[in-house]
Amino acid sequence: MAFNKITNDLLDQIKTIIGVSNVFTDEESLNTYSHDETEDLRYYPEIVVKPTDANSVSALLKLCNEHHVPVTPRGGGTGLSGAALPIHGGVLLSMEKFKAIIEIDTENLQATVEPGVITEDFINAVGEHGLLYPVDPSSKGSCFIGGNVAHGSGGPRVVKYGTIREYILNLEVVLPTGEIIWTGANTLKYASGYNLTQMMIGSEGTLAVVTKIVTKLVPKPQQSVLMLASFGENEKACAAVSAIFRAGIIPSALEFMERKGVEWVIKFDDIKFELKDDVNAFLLIEFDGDDMDSIFKDCEKVNLVLEQFECSDVLFADTAQQKEDLWRMRRTMAESVKSNSVYKEEDTVVPRAALPRLINGIKEIGSRYGFESVCYGHAGDGNLHINIIKAGMSDEDWKNKLKDGIVEIFELTSALGGTISGEHGIGLVQKEFMPIKYSEVNLNLMRGIKSVFDPNGILNPGKIF
Ligand code: LAC
Ligand code: ZN
Repeated sequence: MAFNKITNDLLDQIKTIIGVSNVFTDEESLNTYSHDETEDLRYYPEIVVKPTDANSVSALLKLCNEHHVPVTPRGGGTGLSGAALPIHGGVLLSMEKFKAIIEIDTENLQATVEPGVITEDFINAVGEHGLLYPVDPSSKGSCFIGGNVAHGSGGPRVVKYGTIREYILNLEVVLPTGEIIWTGANTLKYASGYNLTQMMIGSEGTLAVVTKIVTKLVPKPQQSVLMLASFGENEKACAAVSAIFRAGIIPSALEFMERKGVEWVIKFDDIKFELKDDVNAFLLIEFDGDDMDSIFKDCEKVNLVLEQFECSDVLFADTAQQKEDLWRMRRTMAESVKSNSVYKEEDTVVPRAALPRLINGIKEIGSRYGFESVCYGHAGDGNLHINIIKAGMSDEDWKNKLKDGIVEIFELTSALGGTISGEHGIGLVQKEFMPIKYSEVNLNLMRGIKSVFDPNGILNPGKIF
């Protein structure tokens, strides 16, 4: 697809639409918006715009569509698949000024928010009304709810509460051709034709720009218990995961962490934690609810399951501080690994009973290619984040051979019935692997959908396929 550059005349028109003070062409801005959290990739936009309302987004998209200028929408910039990188230059459309929590509807347990609201701010705001919005990725302190919609985000509580797909009821979006529409209705059920709301979720800003979000909320549980189970072997910890559900137990979080990840967090984040010699894997297990008796019953049941998988120790977080520390250990793992080593991040997901085969397979592939890996993630969802560590691999092998190893990891994931991203998305860096999982028929259907929404292909071009 051939795109046009932003001429001085177009820039003047964009300034008139967005307002001079919200259009940036200075080096520092272009630099800031040239990267997200994906590896160390950088692509520079020609301009950065920060509109404040849907009508300006509409006029901007209409203009860019007419002139074939690419537009890349961006949330909090915490993405790990490069979906917000402006790889063709053009306009970087930051949604950071869409900051309003418009309504918390305590009668219907719903809320309407703008996409630039930081996820944790939204969680706290509904929490003050005794409500829970359970979609809390590790980046919740800086990611935007709009970016979460774009990526079909998850986080640790998916295992009990579901992903963001279960919480988005309706969206106001601006199409690349400039029309502003609501995608559905503010209802808990929807059997009224194709579900355009769900179509937007996970579309990574390639179909439309979200300007308002209506979410479902649930009552906030009053109590929780957090436990950390230690294992000598990754495989045993992973095998315990599906057994927990088979025993009729549904935790509110069930996270896996490999020893090396914990070691690096301790180094990076100064967390006080005694790491015993014979422990190589952990499950972080949380139960929530309003009734402590029933939570304790679940803890007892889960203990019986863990015993069957050679769990060597179970630590209960006694204080709020201990709970916070254990969660911090898990949530800062991605940053810790990144700060410790050259790495590449993959986001595999398989049916959860296949987790032991996935982790063993990853280690076996690593030993053949010469890379190490640090695995952790949302084991209860079968979702394993694989951080591939350069370790002893030569620069040349890292550059030329690693890809074959990644292909093998995704082939294994696919053979186990899984897919190539559970929550980080495809964006730029995973798109070359899509054919491992999806046939040309699937990909052509996706391309067809894209062309219906975005006939000139101006919105976030070069992503997903
Ligand atoms: C996490 C992010 C990387 O689970 O998805 O920490
Ligand atoms: Zn995650």
